[in-house]
Parts: sequence; structure tokens; C-alpha cells
Amino acid sequence: MVKANVLSKIRGFSGVNRPIYVLAGLAFLISVATLAKFNYITPLRFSGRFCNNHGSFDGDNYILGSQMRKTIESAIFKIHQEMDDLKVLEANSSAPPSDSSASGSMFRHVAFLADVLSLIQSVHMELPSFEEVDHPLKQRNGDPGEHFMREEIKKYIKIKPNRLGKQNFMGANGTFTSIGHACFAMKKDVEEYMDYDVGEICNDDWRLAQKLMVHGCDPLPRRRCFSRAPQLYYKPFPINESLWKLPDNRNVRWGQYKCKNFTCLASNTTARKGFFKCTDCFNLTHHELPRWVNRGELDPETNQTADFSIQEVLEIKPGEIRIGLDFSVGTGTFAARMRESNVTIVTATINLGAPFNEMISLRGLVPLYLTVNQRLPFFDSTLDVIHTTRFLDGWIDLILLDFVLFDWDRVLRPGGLLWIDSFFCLKEDLGDYMEAFKALRYRRHKWVVVPKRDKDDKEVFFSAVLEKPPRPFR
Ligand SMILES: *[C@@H]1O[C@H](CO)[C@@H](O)[C@H](O)[C@H]1NC(C)=O
Ligand SMILES: *[C@@H]1O[C@H](CO)[C@@H](O)[C@H](O)[C@H]1NC(C)=O
Ligand SMILES: *[C@@H]1O[C@H](CO)[C@@H](O)[C@H](O)[C@H]1NC(C)=O
Ligand SMILES: *[C@@H]1O[C@H](CO)[C@@H](O)[C@H](O)[C@H]1NC(C)=O
Ligand SMILES: *[C@@H]1O[C@H](CO)[C@@H](O)[C@H](O)[C@H]1NC(C)=O
Ligand SMILES: *[C@@H]1O[C@H](CO)[C@@H](O)[C@H](O)[C@H]1NC(C)=O
Ligand SMILES: *[C@@H]1O[C@H](CO)[C@@H](O)[C@H](O)[C@H]1NC(C)=O
Ligand SMILES: *[C@@H]1O[C@H](CO)[C@@H](O)[C@H](O)[C@H]1NC(C)=O
Repeated sequence: MVKANVLSKIRGFSGVNRPIYVLAGLAFLISVATLAKFNYITPLRFSGRFCNNHGSFDGDNYILGSQMRKTIESAIFKIHQEMDDLKVLEANSSAPPSDSSASGSMFRHVAFLADVLSLIQSVHMELPSFEEVDHPLKQRNGDPGEHFMREEIKKYIKIKPNRLGKQNFMGANGTFTSIGHACFAMKKDVEEYMDYDVGEICNDDWRLAQKLMVHGCDPLPRRRCFSRAPQLYYKPFPINESLWKLPDNRNVRWGQYKCKNFTCLASNTTARKGFFKCTDCFNLTHHELPRWVNRGELDPETNQTADFSIQEVLEIKPGEIRIGLDFSVGTGTFAARMRESNVTIVTATINLGAPFNEMISLRGLVPLYLTVNQRLPFFDSTLDVIHTTRFLDGWIDLILLDFVLFDWDRVLRPGGLLWIDSFFCLKEDLGDYMEAFKALRYRRHKWVVVPKRDKDDKEVFFSAVLEKPPRPFR
């Protein structure tokens, strides 16, 4: 029945409707041509862009290109179907050889469709096949190492099968080393970083490494060269002295820092010595000593302070807080003070312009060299406390903040404390940021907003101590 209807429809086309049919075909052709002009379908240009430049692949183009390919494929499929239908109709209608003009126009339609089809197919052929391109993220060929020239990085990325050909004790058939996906976009820097002789001394290039990490090439590949150490390493001070004493200058490689000794970093007369958010963090005697011991200065208007003392926070959960993470920029003073309360804190920081990691370790505390790009290297529900200050501030993207907060939530144990310490941002942004913190639905032990009394009063401090609720769901 349906086919019969189609037949009568097509018979109708032979007269008035034919121009419409042709027009529709033309419209389709024009739209394909426009797509082709649009940016990159011109095959040579596109494949040039994509193939010559494996390093800086463009995810959007990839998606757009493969969508276009799918659209064209479905158009081709539809035309094929239509032609098949017409052929069937033609066969049936020719049984009674009556209306020769109708079968003639049918033939022309089929010829026209075949014409359109061949045009579209020629475009389709010239489209690069996205499925076959060795896309760094798809790794269909199983060897992302092919994107790099340097042998060491190829070797590093290559999957290492187990020697005995069986699963190892971790339940894997091999070892799968990984690097951050942004490494592929920073090919030049990665290859410079991996340019060394196995077993020799590495270049003095931790800054290059840190730049790579900060830009998402994180984790970085490991290397098989010996990292540079201070020329002569003197034994560190014993722990009863090291916490509050500037370390020995000789235990740091100063080459890549502005200051060349700790006195310079600690002095309040040296300008631009390191990270602007932490210019006084090396001044242990004046700046660091009072931190988290007393409550900070009260704001005259609100009678509140954004600086809580460690003691008042620990009193929220007496005896329960034993281990935790400080995700801040600093020299480890928070961990030093917590140590005095028998709480073990690891301090996550990178070296922003000054030897923060070296300083923390020379004080006898544990530095964790970690960027904000990475999932925390702790298992779920393991830490009693997370403290953060001077790091996540008004600069941070709200979506990123969300991911960070949920990751922190993951590693905090039920009943653990999240201490947001003097988060600052523009007044008008405060609402948005507070929403992010509220979304955790933590129990609020402390929650204050204090105007930031410097510059032009446009910023506010926000501090809070929040408790992760138990989530007794299965
Ligand atoms: C065409 O003819 C075949 C057999 O001759 C028949 O089975 C089929 O249903 C017919 N189709 C139409 C659309 O008439
Ligand atoms: C691991 O090896 C076993 C047998 O050697 C094989 O059956 C299995 O599919 C392999 N698993 C993976 C993930 O390759
Ligand atoms: C630190 O401890 C050592 C012994 O463990 C002791 O000899 C030294 O005097 C102590 N230093 C201080 C400043 O207490
Ligand atoms: C520390 O470095 C500053 C300049 O960076 C220099 O003026 C000063 O003499 C140095 N002090 C010591 C003790 O080396
Ligand atoms: C620390 O800062 C105080 C006051 O700002 C200053 O007097 C002192 O000299 C600084 N400490 C060092 C080691 O420079
Ligand atoms: C450094 O600290 C001393 C003592 O507190 C102070 O007199 C001096 O003004 C400070 N210098 C700077 C540049 O802040
Ligand atoms: C701040 O607190 C002090 C003492 O606790 C009190 O005397 C003062 O009136 C308070 N000020 C305001 C603005 O509440
Ligand atoms: C820390 O532990 C030591 C030894 O167990 C104990 O003597 C000290 O009182 C503890 N300090 C605090 C602040 O709890």
C-alpha cells in the first residue's frame, strides 16, 4: 500500500512537482558546499592542520569533523534507500507496460539522484577519516608514544608487559605508565625535558618541569637521569631546632630563584623575592611565629576575625584530629604548629618563585609537590582535616572549585574537618563562591565573612570550619 502511494506521488512529480525536487537537491548540494567552505573541510588544509601538528590536536575540530562525516554518511544512506525504492517501484510498474512517459521520468529521477550521490560521495571521500587518525586521546593504536620523537618518552609511555606473561600481584597484565594529556599539546617542552642521557646528570630544569605540570602535563614522565642536588648537603638541624630556624643556605640549589639565600627571603626589605601571596612566609620570627596561635585581629566593625587559632579548631573534635593535609602556599608553619598538637600534616605546595618545598622539608615537615590539576593522592575517607589558605582564592574558576571541593570531600573521613582559612575574593563574587561551599552540605562550626581592610575595600575574607557529615547510604 505504502509503495503504491509513493508511486502515485512520484507520478505526480513528473508534472508540477519536479522543479521542487530539483530545488531540494540543489539546496542540499549548496549546504554541503557551504560546510566545505566553513573553516576546514577543504581537505588539504584540514589534513595539513591535523597531521603536521600532532602535538596541538584540536578536540573541537575533531568532534565537528566526525559529526560532519556522520551527517554526510546518513545523507548518502538516505539517497541509496530512495534509489532502491524507486527501482522496486519501477520494476513493479513496468509489469503492465502502460505509461511510458511515467517510467521515463522515473528514470530521470534515478539518474538525478545518482548524480547527486556521486557528488556527495566525492566530498565524502576527500574528508579525512577521523576514525583512522591516531588521536592522542583515543589511543586506538595503543601507542600514544608515537606522538613523540624522543626515544626516552616513547619508552616511558609504552605499556610494559609483565616478565612472566601472567597477571602481576596487582591484578594487571602489565604496567601502564601515564602522562597528563596536555603533554601532547606541549610536545616541544616535553621533548626538551626528556632530552638527556640515561644514567647521566639531568639538566637543571625543574622550572621547565613545573611549567609543564602547571599547564596540565601532569603527571610528568619519569626520567632515568640523576637529578641535581645541592653541591654539598649539610645534615639538617635536629627536629627540636629545625621547625623554627631558617635552614642552612647550602642545602638549597638557588640557581632558579631571585633570592640566593634564606636571609634574603626572610628580610622585609627585599622586594619581589618570591610569591606575592607569601612574601613574609620565610620570616619565621615575626611573621610565622604568631600564626594560628592567637586569633587574628578583630575587625572593628563586625568584631570578628577570619583567623581562627589551631586550638579553637581542634577543640571542636578533641583528640580526633590526627592526620591531614594543608593545601596552601607557605613554608609549612601550619604543619609545624599542628605537630606541636601531635597532628601530622602534609603540606601540598609547588615552588612559586621561592624554595617552598625545600624549606618545608628542611624544617622537618613533609612537603607534597602537587599542582591543583591533580586528583589528591589519598584514598577515600582517610584524612581527619584539610586546611587551605592563600591558594584557592577569588581567581579560581567555579567549576574547578567544585571539582576540587568534591575531591577534598572524597578524601575527608566522615566527621573530618574542612578548614577554609581566609579565602578572599571580590565582594560581588562572594555569593557564587559561598554557594560552592554550601553545596557540600557540611555542618558549620564556624562561618565568618570579614571585609578585607586594604586597598579599596572591594574584597572580603571568608573563613569557615566545616564538618563532613556521615553519609550512611549503601
Ligand atoms: C512489487 O512486486 C512484488 C512481486 O512482484 C511484490 O511482492 C511487491 O509487494 C510489489 N511492491 C509494490 C510496492 O507493489
Ligand atoms: C590478561 O591476560 C589474560 C591471559 O593471559 C587474558 O585472558 C586477559 O584478557 C588479559 N587482560 C587484559 C586486560 O589484557
Ligand atoms: C635538641 O636535641 C638534642 C638531642 O636530641 C640536644 O642535644 C639539643 O640540645 C636540643 N636542642 C635544643 C635547642 O633543645
Ligand atoms: C644573601 O643574599 C643577598 C642578596 O641576594 C646578599 O646581599 C647577602 O649578602 C646574602 N647573605 C648571605 C648571608 O649570604
Ligand atoms: C622579619 O620581619 C621583621 C619585621 O618585619 C624584621 O624586623 C626582621 O628583620 C625580619 N627577619 C629577617 C630574618 O629578616
Ligand atoms: C621592616 O621591619 C622593620 C621592623 O619591624 C620596620 O621598621 C621596617 O619599616 C620594615 N621595612 C619594610 C620595607 O617594610
Ligand atoms: C566588640 O567586642 C567588645 C568586647 O568583646 C565590645 O566591647 C564591643 O562593644 C564589641 N563591638 C561591636 C561593634 O560589637
Ligand atoms: C603530644 O604527645 C606527647 C607525647 O605523647 C604528649 O606528651 C603531649 O602532651 C602531647 N601534646 C598535646 C598538645 O597533646
